[in-house]
Amino acid sequence: MTTKLGVYIHWPYCARICPYCDFNVYKNRDVDVDAWIRALTRDLDHYAARTQGRKLTSLYFGGGTPSLAPLPVIESVIETCARLWGFEPDAEITLEANPTDAEQSRFEAFARTGVNRLSLGVQSLRDEALNFLGRDHDAASAKRAIEAAKAAFPRVTFDLIYGRPGQTLDDWRIELGEALTLAPQHLSLYQLTIEPGTAFAIAVDKGRWTPPEDDITADMYDAAQEMTAAAGLPAYEISNHAGPGEESRHNLVYWTYGDYVGVGPGAHGRLTKNHAHGGLAEDSHRIATETPLAPKDYLAGAPHTQTILSKSEATMERFTMGLRLRKGIALHETDPFFTDAATGAGAYERIDRLIGDNLLTWDGETLAATGDGRRILNRVLYELFA
Ligand SMILES: C[S@@+](CC[C@H](N)C(=O)[O-])C[C@H]1O[C@@H](n2cnc3c(N)ncnc32)[C@H](O)[C@@H]1O
Ligand code: SF4
Repeated sequence: MTTKLGVYIHWPYCARICPYCDFNVYKNRDVDVDAWIRALTRDLDHYAARTQGRKLTSLYFGGGTPSLAPLPVIESVIETCARLWGFEPDAEITLEANPTDAEQSRFEAFARTGVNRLSLGVQSLRDEALNFLGRDHDAASAKRAIEAAKAAFPRVTFDLIYGRPGQTLDDWRIELGEALTLAPQHLSLYQLTIEPGTAFAIAVDKGRWTPPEDDITADMYDAAQEMTAAAGLPAYEISNHAGPGEESRHNLVYWTYGDYVGVGPGAHGRLTKNHAHGGLAEDSHRIATETPLAPKDYLAGAPHTQTILSKSEATMERFTMGLRLRKGIALHETDPFFTDAATGAGAYERIDRLIGDNLLTWDGETLAATGDGRRILNRVLYELFA
């Protein structure tokens, strides 16, 4: 078994900065196309030399708003990846896009570069909510964008944010029902998170509005599980729902703790030294990489950080990612989780306790979080590694 390999490209610019977002983003500007192509190629070259002989499962343009990136940048990255690694036959090339009318006009051109999956940041199908979320599209343009995306790309997914102030369970059921009639193959449903340092965090601090109570958002989460399953898009991960075979291959690289190269400002990567046997061999180790945050430092070639993860750190990351998946992770009694000094002591008792609380299941081969466990995964992980 060799570890899957994906490439993540971070495009850091957005038309405007949404009040809830804490990604590494900057207000859009005219960019120096050649400088961007040079910097991205330089880093892809560097990481390709360290992952020789492997083909790519996926390439993901995320952000920020990569649908604002000049076409030659997207084209160049796809060509460079094809030249340096080559793609697996069913490789997935995803681009995130905002559903404004201006961006829809570029969908066909993106499809011609080789992008075969579009991820649309719809966020809501209600104008009032889109306004509250600081978005520069309305529900009608979101619906037009979904149709235009379906015409241009073989695979389309879109994101919705629930748990907005004032939103009732019924409101959410109706909105999600409407989203499901748009016949997506994949949906990402995120609960609104108030991230420290964002405009929303300041508004909540000042008492301008209050996020909904936990029991309301828990009911919204449960409703989403039921409704997506009934529509043939069951949850395969905490926030992600897909029809058969429509799961995000790129995100599965993260959740199955595969390897990924991260380039562009503030991109993270994980590489396995000696990746045979899924990186679990005695002499293998995981390396975490991170590029400089500020676009100007990134373009100037400031050094990337590189950290070798200890066995227990790598185990913790593997569990943190893998237990997000409904199918869970492979866990045998020979796993480093049981044998490592830092995580092994009392491991069976901790697992037993969480099974007793109906938060985990384990059959000696697969460890999975139950529906309840996935909803409070941070607490489960805390107890698992306490
Ligand atoms: C990095 S954004 C990129 C997509 C694109 N720029 C857009 O906004 O349409 C990925 C997704 O994360 C979600 N997201 C970002 N911040 C969030 C927050 N604080 N709470 C919930 N979801 C959030 C949004 O649904 C967003 O579409
Ligand atoms: S949510 Fe998307 S568009 Fe809004 S600031 Fe974040 S990355 Fe940019």
